[in-house]
Amino acid sequence: MNETWWKEAAVYEIYPVSFKDSNGDGKGDLQGIISKLDYLKNLGIDVIWICPIYDSPGKDNGYDISDFYAINPEFGTMSDFDELLKQAHDRGLKIMMDLVLNHTSDQHPWFKESRSSIDNPKRDYYIWKKGVNGLFPNNWESYFSGSVWELDENTDEYYMHLYSKYQPDLNWNNDEMVHELYKMISWWLQKGVDGFRLDAIAHIVKAEGLPNADNPQHLPVVRAYQLFSNLEKVHWMLKKLNEEVWMDYNIMTVGETSGLGPEQALEYVGDARHELNMVFQFEHMNLDSASAGTGKWVPRAWTLLELKKIISNWQTTLHKKGWNANYLGNHDQPRPVSRFGNDQQYRVESAKMLATFMLTLEGTPYIYQGEEIGMTNVAFETIGDYRDVETLNYYEYSHLHGKPMDETMAAIRAKSRDNARTPMQWDASPQAGFTTGDPWIKVNPNYSEVNVEAAMSDPNSIFHYYRRLLALRKTHKVMVYGEYKLLLPLDSELYVYTRTLDGSEDQIIVILNFFGESPVFEWPEDLRDLSRELLISNYSPNLDEEADEIQLQPYEARVYRLY
Ligand code: GLC
Ligand code: CA
Repeated sequence: MNETWWKEAAVYEIYPVSFKDSNGDGKGDLQGIISKLDYLKNLGIDVIWICPIYDSPGKDNGYDISDFYAINPEFGTMSDFDELLKQAHDRGLKIMMDLVLNHTSDQHPWFKESRSSIDNPKRDYYIWKKGVNGLFPNNWESYFSGSVWELDENTDEYYMHLYSKYQPDLNWNNDEMVHELYKMISWWLQKGVDGFRLDAIAHIVKAEGLPNADNPQHLPVVRAYQLFSNLEKVHWMLKKLNEEVWMDYNIMTVGETSGLGPEQALEYVGDARHELNMVFQFEHMNLDSASAGTGKWVPRAWTLLELKKIISNWQTTLHKKGWNANYLGNHDQPRPVSRFGNDQQYRVESAKMLATFMLTLEGTPYIYQGEEIGMTNVAFETIGDYRDVETLNYYEYSHLHGKPMDETMAAIRAKSRDNARTPMQWDASPQAGFTTGDPWIKVNPNYSEVNVEAAMSDPNSIFHYYRRLLALRKTHKVMVYGEYKLLLPLDSELYVYTRTLDGSEDQIIVILNFFGESPVFEWPEDLRDLSRELLISNYSPNLDEEADEIQLQPYEARVYRLY
């Protein structure tokens, strides 16, 4: 298998507005990030992915860009950015930027021009259409509730927005616009950034003619993801991007691609495709929802069997053909320890178990800020405490459609993106040490217990466990490149797999108890003759090391080297 730096790297995702505030305005900023670089280096990560910091009105916290070439003044200046890049590089850390290429802010000068008249030269930079008999041009539903169409009264045409109405979609059929994007990306590459995360990249191409989606129930809007996700032409666009922009740079790229399985992912990440290094898939994120997209608000119980099936399929399909991006949480998802672990009685144990899982799969692991200290979901009392545009749109939509409020609030508490966006908990001082001012969103009240300072001073903390795991990945190649093999596929409590390095004796076994019971793990026959060395566990070592049956403790995780 081709060995590459980005396969061996671990990525840490920063959501800047919630990470660290340096000037007391209640919002995180670039100087805040700079002040924590030593902390991140100490944790043992290699790459920092920074969510958008470009100039933006902030309707979707920076995913609505009004100037690709400027830093949002709330975050600092371009010289702060240059300093961040240099300070990171001085420490051997790389910086990955977020590229939002599917849409801009409605305040971007391109859109202002585009909407000014039907014959403006930039009209075609965006997707405009006439209504049909006073109705929307088609029946597609937005990710953020309601129609993807917004009427612009000035020209009496609708523009498309797959996300909020403040985020008009760019028209990738317009060559001039696409070349403007190339220019912009090259500009950032020349600054020396080390990679890109491509936001919503699966959606840049829409089905020819923007046809209606099937709608047997005649609803005003319906889910139409298959008409704007992962279409053939996206691949052509990405190949072009490669050829014209980043082929000669040794960068790392990861695309956000919802709605695909591993076979289809190979079209993006297959070694011979020259498109992207890896993609974020969503199959496991949809496990506890009725469906993808807006269906996320309708809860469903997840099962370990389904999780195993999905992850195993990704692990085996991509092996030697592409590369995985492994994650359980990010700025759009609830906190993993609340979702897949137990954030009450076993917060520490289950957070460590999930860390073991993420850091022992084949692929590049992504750690979202706060995961390394086991930050949890938040349960705000009222809708007034929530900030996220998706959440607020959903609340309004539910209200309009007469859904019971307690159901709506329960869904929001479980799934709102704000769960991941409460301020990073640095210490036990007021506002968790995030800011000396009023935070833009409330801190999670559990900060007095769950915070970085406490974690760093406790040798048994989740933080130190992550450090050890990350260090192990550096010394055991098998953890990076070894082939994954699932054991006990039908066990509904235990998740067990081996990783084996091609053409060598190097092998590890990962044993994860995913729940709060104490199941017995029986050592597989064919592995009993091998010697075992316990590399890491979230409980202190037992005396049963040599036993062929191990009674696991709640959320116990063990990784052994076999030889
Ligand atoms: C991606 C981002 C999300 C954002 C959306 C629109 O899904 O991760 O935060 O709201 O794209 O840019
Ligand atoms: Ca600030």
